[in-house]
Amino acid sequence: MQPAVVAHRGASAHRAEHTVAAYALAVEQGADGLECDVRLSRDGHLVCVHDRRVDRTSSGRGVVSTLTLERLSELDYGSWSPAMPEHADELVLRPPDESERGVLTLESLLELVEAHPGVKLFVETKHPVRYGGLVEAKLVAMLRRYGLARPRSKEDSQVVMMSFSSRAVRRVRGHTATLPTVLLLENLSVARWDGALPMYADYTGPGVHLLRTDPDYVERARSFGNETYVWTVDEPADVSLCAKLGVRFLATNSPASTMRLLNR
Ligand code: G3P
Ligand code: CA
Repeated sequence: MQPAVVAHRGASAHRAEHTVAAYALAVEQGADGLECDVRLSRDGHLVCVHDRRVDRTSSGRGVVSTLTLERLSELDYGSWSPAMPEHADELVLRPPDESERGVLTLESLLELVEAHPGVKLFVETKHPVRYGGLVEAKLVAMLRRYGLARPRSKEDSQVVMMSFSSRAVRRVRGHTATLPTVLLLENLSVARWDGALPMYADYTGPGVHLLRTDPDYVERARSFGNETYVWTVDEPADVSLCAKLGVRFLATNSPASTMRLLNR
């Protein structure tokens, strides 16, 4: 089976990351899934922002968790340049519409996903330690409201939760036993395979740089019943490597060119 293609922060090679425009383009390009990072605003709203601060991706400055949703919404997230304009090829980079500039809430992204039942959403929770589980609790509560927290099976699920923190992944498993989870990996240490891992993480998520030096990882993980989600796969050689190794999901900033490389 070919890897499913997940748009990392939306089609972020062509639109500003974590904007409605980036996700809408990814859906238009036929991506199988969308990836987003979530943080809490000062007043407890889940917002899609990667960095601890808004400085890199918006017109403002400050730490996300110290700003209210109202203040975050006043900033412009649509004007910064996409990370990889060299991948733009036939696509036209364009300034975002007014409606695409504000901070994206997880709720708005869920509404977009709800309108496209075939598209999966991979939600990565950030800063899991500081808030002692509040991010995960709010995430699961919101998924419950959308009827997405208790899928019939992991394959059926429209939402997948991810984190680099095993504690965060375990918390989600504690809230809902059937929501699929990915434990993202900074390294491929075998110490992580403590026997308990398959109990709370359905997938492991190494960076593609780790597979370049240890391609056997995918098969090793599979022998523990654990399929692989790989990030962030933009180079043609890496796309081929993931396809050859039988990676289940690959996250890319450029879904259109990645799908072309996979002959889709
Ligand atoms: O998809 C997982 C990947 O996004 C993890 O790294 O820093 O881009 O959130 P980061
Ligand atoms: Ca991420």
